[in-house]
Amino acid sequence: MSELLLLAIETSCDETAAAVVKNGRTVLSNIIASQIELHKKYGGVVPEIASRKHVETIGPVVEQALSVAKVSLSDLDAVAVTNGPGLVGALLVGLSYGKALAYAIRKPLVGVHHIEGHICANYIENDFEPPMLCLVVSGGHTFIVYVKDYGCYEVLGQTRDDAAGEAYDKIARVLGLAYPGGPIIDQLAESGDTEVIRFPRAVVSDGPLDFSFSGLKSAVINYVNKCRACGVAYSIENVAASFQQAVVDVLVDKTMKAAMETGVQKVAISGGVSANRGLRTAMLSACHERGLLLNMPPLAYCTDNAVMIGTCGYYNILRGKISSMDLNAHPDLALV
Ligand code: KG4
Ligand code: ZN
Repeated sequence: MSELLLLAIETSCDETAAAVVKNGRTVLSNIIASQIELHKKYGGVVPEIASRKHVETIGPVVEQALSVAKVSLSDLDAVAVTNGPGLVGALLVGLSYGKALAYAIRKPLVGVHHIEGHICANYIENDFEPPMLCLVVSGGHTFIVYVKDYGCYEVLGQTRDDAAGEAYDKIARVLGLAYPGGPIIDQLAESGDTEVIRFPRAVVSDGPLDFSFSGLKSAVINYVNKCRACGVAYSIENVAASFQQAVVDVLVDKTMKAAMETGVQKVAISGGVSANRGLRTAMLSACHERGLLLNMPPLAYCTDNAVMIGTCGYYNILRGKISSMDLNAHPDLALV
């Protein structure tokens, strides 16, 4: 197959991102304009503000992606763009831009599922290939996915309530920490003790590979409120470390259970929470103990970026999955 050069666009939440990716795995540019500072004072992403900022930023971000890659529009073979799931207004900005661009340069448009993009982050700049199990842990989703082949997925487990990243962000808020809370809790947990407070590990009786974080969230909130009400000092580091340990224990435990049940030898992680140091260390030793091959994307490809969208778009093209110009944004787009 001859060389395929893709421009990829990602605007599903609070990052305006564009990248140029060659043959799915080679990164020529990776531009990310984060809106985090803009949303911080509200304690979370404000959808309308996100959309407006994407409108302002998308043009310069795409231009920068092309110039860093030293590529002109006429060199591109296709435009890949996230069309769901995510915030509908935010998605529409990237999608409309990508559509207009693809139309103008008369090249194919390729819609990409955001979570499929996260899974494909495991292929960037390496030769890791399916079949594999992938633990997807982001701000909005928690899945154990059996990746049978490129674009061929079976969801083995998922959350019944909060996503892992959502639990991190909510707990951070209770602790008075800034948004997004995941990286801050990760940092605090480094100097905390995981043994002092024992938070629950949820068992989902009718779905052994499913997750539930609402009980854990309530337990942490109750602990903190009780300490505050009684005027008892608590260690924020110990709360962070104990909460993180409870999350990591179930994530690793269920991923290992899925690996044993399916007999799949390769494990991958992806999504914002896969940047978590506690999770990476625990997953590495669990896989090592069982002789499983583990791939973890570099931190820059764990959180939202457009390279993973370009990678996924490339494999969509190889499977003939090209989109038409009436492609729409779907906030709840299903993975399978
Ligand atoms: O994948 P992502 O960038 O966006 C979504 O698709 O949602 O994930 C963002 C989530 C946020 O909830 C953030 O708190 C969490 O990932 N996150 C982390 C870490 N870095 C980001 N959670 C735990 N530890 C981290 N180091
Ligand atoms: Zn994401």
